[in-house]
Amino acid sequence: MVVVAILAAGKGTRMKSHLPKVLHSLGGKTLVERVIHSVEPFSPTRKLVIVGYKSEEVKNSLEHIPEIEFVEQTEQLGTGHAIQQLLPNLRGYEGDLLILNGDVPLLRTETLNNLLKIHQDHQNFCTILTAKLANPQGYGRVFCDNEGVVQQMVEHKDCTPQQRENKRVNAGIYCFRWSELSKVLPHLKNDNAQKEYYLTDAVTQVGKVMAVDVEDEQEILGINDRLQLANANDILQKRIKEKWLLAGVTLNDPASITIDETVELEPDVIIEPQTHLRGKTLIKSGSRIGPGSLIENSQLGENVTVQYSVITDSFVGTGTRIGPYAHLRGHAEVGENCRIGNFVELKNSQLGDRTNVAHLSYLGDTTAGTQVNVGAGTITANYDGVRKHRTRIGDRTKTGSNSVLVAPINIGNDVYIAAGSTVTEDVENDALVIARSRQVVKPGWSKKPS
Ligand code: UD1
Ligand code: CA
Repeated sequence: MVVVAILAAGKGTRMKSHLPKVLHSLGGKTLVERVIHSVEPFSPTRKLVIVGYKSEEVKNSLEHIPEIEFVEQTEQLGTGHAIQQLLPNLRGYEGDLLILNGDVPLLRTETLNNLLKIHQDHQNFCTILTAKLANPQGYGRVFCDNEGVVQQMVEHKDCTPQQRENKRVNAGIYCFRWSELSKVLPHLKNDNAQKEYYLTDAVTQVGKVMAVDVEDEQEILGINDRLQLANANDILQKRIKEKWLLAGVTLNDPASITIDETVELEPDVIIEPQTHLRGKTLIKSGSRIGPGSLIENSQLGENVTVQYSVITDSFVGTGTRIGPYAHLRGHAEVGENCRIGNFVELKNSQLGDRTNVAHLSYLGDTTAGTQVNVGAGTITANYDGVRKHRTRIGDRTKTGSNSVLVAPINIGNDVYIAAGSTVTEDVENDALVIARSRQVVKPGWSKKPS
């Protein structure tokens, strides 16, 4: 039985940001979200998140995750003070409490599992995660005997120059027997360099404490400033790209590509340079994305190609070619084997299979059938200054170059629209519509006497 508590009340002064530190994002998730996800596989009996600085913002950001309990720490007087806030919530609780810093976002679930196992096998009162770092600057130092039993913990700011030489650091991840921790918590003191109540002081007061070194020290990187955030991002990107490369995805010039952890790719996807895949994106087998593209919260079918284009919140069917320089957004849905070409914008529009919009067009709030050909420069005028209106275009219809369809409007199947038309009324199936003034030619006009 384990209850999890996540420390997320601090401001994060060193981030120099209006945003609470734990809401900065890394690989498509916020820092605190990542920490929560790392504990989910072992189904903790309760998940307590300690919030304080801009607590409403933090709570709102976690609304989509079920079964989180928030505990307020109205004043941020230190990590020990934060855990003191749990005393009323966990009265009488007999099990273990796993405490995680909300700003340590790269931890693997396996590492936490290992920590819990050692804690339980040795029947420790407390087990902490540690690492030996080449550069331990800023971290609390942990002093152990030869058996890994913790003797002393000293925060960086409280260390003597000699103590700073110690390379073993506190990762900010602890497993406590709650019945023991709850006894010492009320007696913490703040007689230290930062005038804070340190959780680390509780560690050395509970009795038998073991330190467990993490295998991969990158996992315990704490985020206190933007430089550490950027480093964490590099580490995470490397992890994500290695995973996809080994899963059969080609990344050309991986260093220039970024992929959120939330993205799904099938084998034989090819990602070209300068391409960024974000959010809940799925790309199916055989698709070639990039160079120079941004795909966010979108689903792309098999054998799709995308060049120098931006696709957000949209769906692209099998075999469709997008770009160069196209923009799909706001729930655009493009069918199979379509072509969406140069300088075309699609917003909240649904296009049937084998429909082409090849050049210089804007389709907004439009439903088009199959095998439609949208001529160069076709625009749907969907906005009357107050409201948006829909355009409907039937199957096999062809719009001439530079036509404007003024919505709301229904154009039937097999319709031909003459180039340069401004169409304001519905058009029946099989019709030709010409909605422009007739050409007037005045022979010899330039030679007439003035
Ligand atoms: C802490 C540890 C340090 C460890 C390091 C690892 C203490 C005293 N020190 O230092 O030994 O090496 O983490 O990253 O614990 N928080 C609250 N309420 C508060 C203060 C902080 O919820 O009153 C939260 C913060 O939002 C953050 C976490 O606790 O998520 C850690 O706080 P931070 O101030 O970053 O501690 P460090 O100085 O990094
Ligand atoms: Ca920290």
